[in-house]
Amino acid sequence: MRSILSKKNLKNTKVVLRLDLNVPIENGKINDTTRIDKILPTLNYLIQKKAKIIILSHVGRPKGKIVKKLSLKPIGEDLQKKLNINVKLITQNIHEINNKNFFEKFDEEMIILENIRFYAEEEKNDLKFAKHLANLGDIYVNDAFSCSHRAHASIDKISKFLPSFSGLQLDLEVNALYRITTNITKPITCIIGGSKISTKINIIKNLIPKFDSIIIVGGMANNFIEYFGNNIGKSIKDKNCDKIIEEIVSLSKKEKCKIIYPEDVVVSEDLNGSSQNKELGQILSNEMILDIGPKTVYKIKKIIDKSKTILWNGPAGYFENPKFAHGSIQIANKIIENNKANQIFSVVGGGDTVALLNSLGAVSNFNFVSTAGGAFLEYLEGKNLPGIKALN
Ligand code: 3PG
Repeated sequence: MRSILSKKNLKNTKVVLRLDLNVPIENGKINDTTRIDKILPTLNYLIQKKAKIIILSHVGRPKGKIVKKLSLKPIGEDLQKKLNINVKLITQNIHEINNKNFFEKFDEEMIILENIRFYAEEEKNDLKFAKHLANLGDIYVNDAFSCSHRAHASIDKISKFLPSFSGLQLDLEVNALYRITTNITKPITCIIGGSKISTKINIIKNLIPKFDSIIIVGGMANNFIEYFGNNIGKSIKDKNCDKIIEEIVSLSKKEKCKIIYPEDVVVSEDLNGSSQNKELGQILSNEMILDIGPKTVYKIKKIIDKSKTILWNGPAGYFENPKFAHGSIQIANKIIENNKANQIFSVVGGGDTVALLNSLGAVSNFNFVSTAGGAFLEYLEGKNLPGIKALN
């Protein structure tokens, strides 16, 4: 992997830069800018070297369709403010952009193309599409570690057509995660939550041999709660997970890895409704699980006390509404408490989890904070991530 820092002359070089600007946006307003702030050093470096920057990124999962609320417009505006340069959002259909003359035409240093996942070819890792993207620049830089587990055109295939480099933030994350995972102290506990169930549930099986305990919270926990015979009402869940859960349960016994899932929960009739604590057998069909309950919080705290290393990825509930943030906040506070007492080494990852910690002003209380969610977990699995492989 060659870092962009190794490239001597970047003056007027057109850099196709893949970033992960997948930040939470609500009504056109960015709720947490961590992923933007973390890549500012890369952008400042390229600006200082007088490179011409073409940013590619996605937001959300529009699945090959134009979804207005998933536009990169607010992100371009935020970058423009923070970098104090003109950042132009190109909304023109990518297929119609076929020249290298952006900057001559618009006299700009930095452009940002509209959400790359508006094009179905992106997630298909389409070779022609990747070549088309590559044609926009002279070199390619991947500074999106948190997307590097996706074999997508702007992450993987594009590297076939251009000299390819890693960005500053990607270097930092890969180096830190390598150091952490090679010097890990047992007992190790992994807390996995969040709402991206399909991304994470298959990973758990491969993590079992590496951990002493795996605590499952968030959306994925609903699948476990249901698997063990409980009604989960209208809670989010993934379809067809019984087989994988069966395998997880059986492997965890063999490997002596404890799997913990909630034993009580907080429910509501909708995301903005009032909250109510419930035992697992009491959930009604018109209710949804939105947080873990007090007994579960107590159990998790006990496990954290017995751990030397904690890896945490994904909130315990719908923390965007303070009524359902209690479980996540309690987990965060317990890790912080033990961290301050030097009892544990703590690593946290994932866009939502980092957003939660930012809202608590607690980011600096963790030993390492990764912007990556799924990529962080797949890295822990020991997988060779497609985006990293492509750079090698
Ligand atoms: C993330 O938020 O983890 C990355 O942006 C990847 O998003 P994805 O899970 O939709 O591929």
